[in-house]
Amino acid sequence: MNIREKYIDFFISKGHKQIPSAPVVPENDPSVLFNTAGMQPLIPYLMGESHPFGTRLCDYQKCIRTNDLDEVGDKTHHTFFEMLGNWSLGDYFKKESITWSFEFLTKHLNIPIERLAVTVFKGNDIVKADTESAEIWKSLGIPEDKIAFLGEDDNWWPNMELTGPCGPDTEIFYFRSKDEIPEKFDPEDDRWVEIWNNVFMQYSHNTDGTFSDLPRKNVDTGMGLERITAVLEGVDDNYKSSLWTNIIKTIEEVSNKKYEENEVSIRIIADHIRAAVFISADNSGIKPSNTDQGYILRRLIRRAIRHAKKLDIDINSDFDEKIALTIINEYKKYYSELETNKDVVLDVLKSEKVKFNKTLEKGLKEFEKMIKNIANNKLNKDLAFKLYDTYGFPIELTIELANERGIEVDVKGFREKFKAHQELSRTSSVGKFKGGLSGNSEIETKYHTATHLLNAALKVVVNKDVHQKGSNITDERMRFDFSCDHKLTDEEKKNVEDLVNKWIKEGLDVTKIEMSKEDAIKSGAECMFIEKYPDMVMVYKIGDVSKELCGGPHVKNTNELGHFKIVKEEASSSGVRRIKAILE
Ligand code: SER
Repeated sequence: MNIREKYIDFFISKGHKQIPSAPVVPENDPSVLFNTAGMQPLIPYLMGESHPFGTRLCDYQKCIRTNDLDEVGDKTHHTFFEMLGNWSLGDYFKKESITWSFEFLTKHLNIPIERLAVTVFKGNDIVKADTESAEIWKSLGIPEDKIAFLGEDDNWWPNMELTGPCGPDTEIFYFRSKDEIPEKFDPEDDRWVEIWNNVFMQYSHNTDGTFSDLPRKNVDTGMGLERITAVLEGVDDNYKSSLWTNIIKTIEEVSNKKYEENEVSIRIIADHIRAAVFISADNSGIKPSNTDQGYILRRLIRRAIRHAKKLDIDINSDFDEKIALTIINEYKKYYSELETNKDVVLDVLKSEKVKFNKTLEKGLKEFEKMIKNIANNKLNKDLAFKLYDTYGFPIELTIELANERGIEVDVKGFREKFKAHQELSRTSSVGKFKGGLSGNSEIETKYHTATHLLNAALKVVVNKDVHQKGSNITDERMRFDFSCDHKLTDEEKKNVEDLVNKWIKEGLDVTKIEMSKEDAIKSGAECMFIEKYPDMVMVYKIGDVSKELCGGPHVKNTNELGHFKIVKEEASSSGVRRIKAILE
């Protein structure tokens, strides 16, 4: 039995219900690009909503973290990973959580107790030291010398800055070395690796900076499958664990190169294609693009191709397809969408490869020209930006190319320029906060405004209680999820279309007002996930028909939009409908 199954069986035996993995792209939360932790799709329930499966849940969740993308290539970093998690929603708390983690590790995974050590929260102005957890660990046989009290940087999740559900945690470490196990645990000694994190999520960090008690005391635990697998198999390189064996073998075959001599490039190809497979197989329909999830997907594929080139793989061969098929075979048992959407995945990889091949040749020529004329071995931000903007070079590719020639890139300057260009908002360790819908092409801007009109029209035609549950915009179309208990009738769809087109024809001005969040809500402005917005917000008003909190950008007048047409109306999830629409 593999670890996923053992884990789920164990928690089911403790009264938990298994919930399916949510898609990698959050369905109803536009504030992050991807689910970055098992708890992400559960935020509404951690905040107090009741979950249809009850108060004890467990799962394995597909996660994507992109903040460390450039670190991928070493032994431990992955873009896509799976997180084993169990949750108590106001049910059990510290005692059961710690006891069960201990039982699972020592009795079911057979980890000797000597190899375990833990950290607990040492306390701050808000919460006192977690001596309760320390006592529970002691009662289970963990000696005092193996319990370290650490501060909020280590034992508070997610961190003190981010708003939302949070709390102190206790982290479990494993001694991953053949050396003699030290009597005393030193969390700074990297032979000890963290394997499991149990968060006692009992606070809400509010946007005004205060912490308040959540309606219930929750537990949120997370254990990375890649790491625990490597630990149990006794390998110090995650990519040498059984999770990766067949994938690495396929890359060795298509490249005719050995892993040992080409670790970095092979890890990057393995990791990036695996993540690209999962992103493109997601039902959200992400395609490579220059914004948001699409840009991450593009970067992953392009970087994998670049490293395939480094291994002298013939880029025009079907090497990417072979690797993707191995990945699909490995995972389809757990994630059936990989099989269902196999053709989509292969098509995404292939078309992006063809596109990049054209750009790559032109861009490389331009790069060579550029570096002949640069001063002080420095590539300035404008040149780096030109490579990005005109030739589609992700900055990371430019850096790699430049580094190979001992040239430094003004990355900071590039990022500033990029940021101004993209209107990106602040990033965080959990994900990317975006005030509403981000994006910057002219057509995307139009779609943003059309999204607000659609939201308003649905309220008039269908029901005033219709609310936005998610949205996604590409150059080609808009997608809008909303709460609604029925399939829209043809008449409703037509009336919605007609109303949006009427407002477009009326030439309504789109105005932007900055105001406090409180005032915005009082004025009746529409908004999703209010707690995720900063204190001062932007409200976009369209004539008198719509008022919404949003980061923009938007057109100046609705007459810029053209003709609005609904192309599809379908179920998204229970109680949520999805409309796909275009502007012609
Ligand atoms: N949310 C915590 C983490 O990601 C525990 O699941 O580490």
